[in-house]
Amino acid sequence: MKEPQYRGVNELRRMFLEYFESKGHLAMKSFSLVPHNDNSLLLINSGMAPLKPYFTGQEIPPRKRVTTCQKCIRTGDIENIGKTARHGTFFEMLGNFSFGDYFKHEAIAWTWEFLTEVVGLDPDRLYPSVYLEDDEAFDIWNKEIGIPAERIFKFGKEDNFWEHGSGPCGPCSEVYYDRGEAFGCGQPGCTVGCDCDRYIEVWNNVFTQFDNDGKGHYTELEHKNIDTGMGLERLAVVVQGVDSLFTVDTNKALLDRVCQLSHTEYQKEHETDVSSELWRIM
Ligand code: ALA
Repeated sequence: MKEPQYRGVNELRRMFLEYFESKGHLAMKSFSLVPHNDNSLLLINSGMAPLKPYFTGQEIPPRKRVTTCQKCIRTGDIENIGKTARHGTFFEMLGNFSFGDYFKHEAIAWTWEFLTEVVGLDPDRLYPSVYLEDDEAFDIWNKEIGIPAERIFKFGKEDNFWEHGSGPCGPCSEVYYDRGEAFGCGQPGCTVGCDCDRYIEVWNNVFTQFDNDGKGHYTELEHKNIDTGMGLERLAVVVQGVDSLFTVDTNKALLDRVCQLSHTEYQKEHETDVSSELWRIM
C-alpha cells in the first residue's frame, strides 16, 4: 500500500484552502466559536454552522463558493476522548461550500481529486459511502469516478443524513480511509462503518437540500447547496501515519508541553494519557 508524503497540519490547511480557491471559492477566516443569532447551538460545531443564513437564503453570501477552516467544538464527543484515536471535541474543520451553485458532481469530483492527487492518498485505501436512497451520488462515485460498486457503502439516516439543530440539512456522502489491520478491532465483521479506528472517516459531503424547522418538519430549499467537512487533524492522522489526533505535529507539541508542566510521561499509563489529552477541552 502506498503511503502519502508527510505534511504538517498547517501545510494541509493551506493546501485545502488553496485548492478550493483554484476552483473559484472565496477563502474566509474561521468564525468565532460563539454563534451569532443562532439559539439552536451553544457553540459552533461545524464549518456550516456560522454560514446557515447563506444556506437558507436569509443573507446573500459574499460569493456563491466559499471555503473555510472553522474552529469547532462537539461536546457530544467528550465521553470518547482518550478512548478512540479520532474524537477530539475541539478540532478544525476544512470545508467547501456552494450556495445554490455547484452540486453533487463537482463536490464529489473535487473530493476525490484533492484526496488522491493533491494529498496523494492511495485510492485503494479510500471507501466512499452514500445515503442508501441516494442513487445519484452512488452513480457519480461508480460511473464518473470509477469506484467499483462493491467498494461503495450504503448507510441509513443515522450515518448518512446530516443535521445538527434546526436549519439546512440533507443526505451525505462520506469518505473513509483504511489505516490498516494494525488499527482494527480484529472482529470478523470489521469493515467500513465499524466503530473501531481502522476505517476512519475523513470527509463528509452534505447535499443540503432541506430546511428543518427544529420540530422535525422538512421543507425543500429553493436552492440546493453543498456543505462539506473534513477534520483537519483527522486528515493529518492519515497523512502523518500517527496513532491518533493527539499525536499529529501541532497537537503533539502542545501535549509535550502539558507533560512537561505536569511532570508526566505520555503513553506510560492510560489514566494519565487521558487526562493529558483532556487539556484540549479546557
Ligand atoms: N456539516 C458536515 C459535517 O460537519 C459537513 O460533517
